[in-house]
Amino acid sequence: MQEKHHLFKGDIFHFTKSPLEYKDSYEFIPNGALVIADGKVLETGVYASLKSKYASIRETDYSGQLLMPGLIDAHVHYAQTEMLGMYGKQLLDWLNDYTFPAELQFNAADHATRIARSFIEELLRNGTTSCVAYPTVHTNSVNALFQVASEYNMRLITGKILMDRNAPEGLTDNVETGEKACRELIEKWHGSGRNSYAITPRFALTSTPEQLRMAGRLHALYPDTYIQTHLSENRNEIASTLALYPGCSDYLEVYERAGLITDRTLLGHGVHLSDSELKRIAAAKAIIAHCPTSNLFLGSGLFEMKRANNMGIQTVLATDVGAGTSFSMLKTMAESYKIQQTTGYSMSVLETLYKSTLGTAKALNMADKTGSFLPGTEADFIVVNSATTPTQQLRRDYLVRSGKWTIENQLFGLQTLGDDRNISATYLMGKKVW
Ligand code: GUN
Ligand code: ZN
Repeated sequence: MQEKHHLFKGDIFHFTKSPLEYKDSYEFIPNGALVIADGKVLETGVYASLKSKYASIRETDYSGQLLMPGLIDAHVHYAQTEMLGMYGKQLLDWLNDYTFPAELQFNAADHATRIARSFIEELLRNGTTSCVAYPTVHTNSVNALFQVASEYNMRLITGKILMDRNAPEGLTDNVETGEKACRELIEKWHGSGRNSYAITPRFALTSTPEQLRMAGRLHALYPDTYIQTHLSENRNEIASTLALYPGCSDYLEVYERAGLITDRTLLGHGVHLSDSELKRIAAAKAIIAHCPTSNLFLGSGLFEMKRANNMGIQTVLATDVGAGTSFSMLKTMAESYKIQQTTGYSMSVLETLYKSTLGTAKALNMADKTGSFLPGTEADFIVVNSATTPTQQLRRDYLVRSGKWTIENQLFGLQTLGDDRNISATYLMGKKVW
């Protein structure tokens, strides 16, 4: 029994509640310990007392480093792993010029597997332990990602992209073939190990109304699947969508009519939404995945987090690689902070980190499994050295000298100056994978 137990010594930080609702939203235990058994969290506490409680326990010493729940990337395109930082133009040209050609390669299973492996290794190196990912239209691409994630025992939500118009021939399916492939993939992967399926119509421009309705019907048949799509990212996209769906008064209505706006729906971007659309998203308890590095890179616009918060919308953070420019959720948090600065909202690091950990797990209805160190959750965690670079060390030393080395100052520096270099190790269900 005891040999299945493992104690990790370090400075514990995790959320127990939302920092938007509670002042005491987190637990911070300097010189603390995380005790796990059979890949799950048993308890957190002060090192000295847990050490005497579990006298002969296996121990790993990360003194002086933070032990935090792994980060969650709520919207990322694994099939775009090769094409970060492609120069020029906004969303629709970028899709046609770079994205669709890159995605065409995923018809080949060996390519899909190779990129899936690189993708998962990039996530783990950056401290991301769960993700909600877009593959391509190809069944191969979905099988490859679920397969590689399963080898790592990583929690993954993904599902075949559906597209039946406005995309190259090699990237389209149709209502019937799309439905058949989704059903087979759901039966094969959804709920197997740590895998969940997301029904994934790419966005309104690349699906017919019939295909969107099929996606809605499929979700009704398998109500514990997720739905993911893109919404109101770019002004030309919105204008083209309204031209293609003349009966709809706004973009959201396109998805509402198809039964796609539910409490298990993740909407990527949502940069340019009306009050009416925001209210309806809140009422449906759908989730907006804010993708700051992507919105800046493609010049899509500045998402207003405060407005979404005031409307009661669940928002989470995401990289949106390959329009996003980094796999690092720390960098993503930093850019989300800067975008909010331009809107007059100085967002706290507690909010950005919550929306990359427990907040995301809660929005996805999986807070009993991941996102915190609450007992019984899966031990997906990261070891973080918040002062690895000379600049970070000078900042830390200065704050220590001034008596201001608080956990919030430490986390804020990690957000602003941090990246993959700060992630010393990544664990999935108690096993070191990076
Ligand atoms: N909208 C539809 N597809 C995509 C995509 O691949 N990336 C981004 N950023 N937006 C999209
Ligand atoms: Zn996207």
